[in-house]
Formats: sequence, structure tokens, C-alpha cells
Amino acid sequence: MKIKNNKLFLGKFSTQSLAKKHGTPIYVYETETIRSQYLKLLKNIAYPKLQIHYACKANTNILILKFFKKLGSKIETVSKGEVTLALKAGFKPKDIIYTSTSVSKDEMAFVIKNKIKVSLDSLSQIELYGKLNPNNDIGIRVNQGIGAGHHDHVITGGIMSKFGIPLEHLNNAKKLAEKYKLKITSLHQHIGSNVLDKNILLKAFDKLLETAINFPDLESLDFGGGFGVSYLPKEKDLDLKTLGTEMTRRMNNFCEKYGKKLDLVLEPGRFLVAESGVLLSTVTEIKNNPKRTFVGVNTGFNHLIRPTMYGSYHEIINTSRAKGLVIKADIVGNICESGDVFGRDRKITSPKVGDILAILNAGAYGYVMASHYNSRSLPREILV
Ligand code: LLP
Repeated sequence: MKIKNNKLFLGKFSTQSLAKKHGTPIYVYETETIRSQYLKLLKNIAYPKLQIHYACKANTNILILKFFKKLGSKIETVSKGEVTLALKAGFKPKDIIYTSTSVSKDEMAFVIKNKIKVSLDSLSQIELYGKLNPNNDIGIRVNQGIGAGHHDHVITGGIMSKFGIPLEHLNNAKKLAEKYKLKITSLHQHIGSNVLDKNILLKAFDKLLETAINFPDLESLDFGGGFGVSYLPKEKDLDLKTLGTEMTRRMNNFCEKYGKKLDLVLEPGRFLVAESGVLLSTVTEIKNNPKRTFVGVNTGFNHLIRPTMYGSYHEIINTSRAKGLVIKADIVGNICESGDVFGRDRKITSPKVGDILAILNAGAYGYVMASHYNSRSLPREILV
């Protein structure tokens, strides 16, 4: 993706030409960005038995899933729908991990029938799985009391989080596994999403290694996802180089002590796709009150809910104007709620009705979280 003088290109296509040809609102994704993020992970985390399972909750567009398959990635899923899409995209059951919460008996039976690997999130999930499929290998998800993330809603470790089996209950988990002759071959953890501080990730990693030593049958350790990307213009990127070097070193040391080379599974979602996508919209209305200017567009939080739901920042540019007066405005959507704001006091090249605005870094948790609220249609999606 290239931006120059407000002109934005995905591959060889300008957003202007894409909007003209396909209309707006539309999500556009670029495979090149996905590939380079994927390679960045492989390069920086040089542990030889690294396995990347793309967390497809970030973006389940079938073409993107197929692209990950082509790259050599495996996949992480959370629902019957995601498992079905993963299979449809060509992933083999052995390359699909299912990690979910509040799972129904029917869904668990579906996962078992399709021979999908599991990371079980609670004692009751182990019981349910054991009754339906005894004498098998399982993974379990632990809650190690460490959580992080860009917003409270996305912190998945710690006492307030519904996820994982607390360390205090791991002996019970072992007993339940024994009862159903289940072999615990994987330990999973995930502390939260959009973590930009390598130190907290390493702290969780060390804790996972400390816990793992007490599980004799492991074949893999699953560190989850959470690797952050910078959304704000001056935000510092995650120091992937140090993180990767340290994870590799600590994993190697651990395996020596453990007596076996384990797989290291990662489940990144956002890191792989966030920067690959933009949401293009058309300016429909410009409105002033005595204090503010509102730039209205033909999309809203029904298409990209992150700003409304988490107060997330997404850069917005007016791709129709290379030059011109820069104004400060609130960029707002077409949903009948006051919270339908993509950004307040944004500096933007003064828009006119018909201009194409691009909302950046919208490739993760964009379309997948869209709704039909206000009976508006879903946006289109294309892959470049
Ligand atoms: N593994 C598990 C078990 C997860 O729950 C998640 C995300 C991931 C991997 C991938 O996390 P990532 O690498 O993308 O941070 N809707 C929120 C993000 C929710 C993340 C939920 N779980 C947002 O828009 O920020």
C-alpha cells in the first residue's frame, strides 16, 4: 500500500479508480501487505518448529483464507461457521485449531466429527469433550492471570476475564483428562489483543513455560495472538525483532530442559491483516453548527464498529484531493446514533460531496464485525 499526496494505491490500483469501478462503501484488501506481515513474523521469530495459525476471526473473507493457505499458514477458529469456512478454503482438519467459549454440545460434536484440534477453555469443556470423544489428544487453554490489550473489552487474561482455566484449577483439569483418557498435548494461552509492549508478551511467555514443565505429554505450546500494530500516526511499533529473538531463545532453553522439541504455535490475527485493508466511503453531506464541522459519509459503525466500540483510532484521508485547504472536522457516519463517529477533530483536506475518504488499517475486525443495523446493507469487499 502506498500513500503519496493523499493518493492511495493498493497494488497498482488507486482507491479513486477502485471506488469508481466498484462503488462505495467498500472494503479493499491488499495481498502484498498480508504476505509481508506473514514473512515478517517468520523472519523475526526464527524458532524452527514455529507454526502460524492465522486467527481468522480478524477477517474471514474466503479469498483471504485461501491466500493464507497458499502462504503456508494454518488457521485458528472459534465457531462452527469459521471451521466450515476454513475447510471450504482448503485447510486440512489437522491444520485447524478450534478455541472457543460457552460451547454448545452440538458445536463440540461438530468439531469432533470433523477431527479439528481443540484448545479447551474450561473444566466443563473438558468434561463435554471427554464424554463425546474419550481416548483422544486435547489442548487446554490456561488463564495465567496476565492480561493486556488496547481496551478492557479485549483483555483475555486475569481474574475479570471469562477465558481459560485458572492455574489453581489445572490439577482438576489433569484429573478430568485422566478420567476420560484424554492426553493433554498442547497448552494454550492468549492475553489479549493489540499488545505493543514486548515485555508483557514475554512475561506471559515465561509463565507459560513455567506451567508447561508440569505437563509431561506436550507436543506443542500455543502462545495465542495479540501482536499489535500501530494505528496512531506516532505510535511505536511492536519490537518484533527482540520479541522473536527472546521467544526463540527461551523456547530452545525450555525444550532442552523438557527433553523434547515442541512446536511453537502462534495465532496472530490483527498483525497479519489490519494494515492490508481500507474502507472506502463517499462524502454525502457537509454540515456545520456554530462550533463544529461534520463530514458525513455513506458508511457508519454498522460497517466499522471499532471507533464506536473501543474508541479506536483509524487514520482517515481524503483521497480525492491531493492539495487544498486542510480543515478540522468530525468524520461521521450515516447511522442514526450520536456515537457514529469515525474521528473527532480530524485534520483533513477540505472535502466536498462526492469525495472518496479512505479509513485506514481496517483489514482486521472490520467487515467481520459489521451488521445490518438501521437496515443498511453490508459493504462490498474486494481483494487486490
Ligand atoms: N487467539 C485467540 C484465542 C483470540 O481470542 C484472539 C482474538 C486471537 C488469537 C487473535 O488476536 P489478535 O492477534 O488479532 O490480537 N475485535 C477486537 C479484537 C478482539 C480479539 C479477540 N480475540 C478489536 O477490534 O480490536
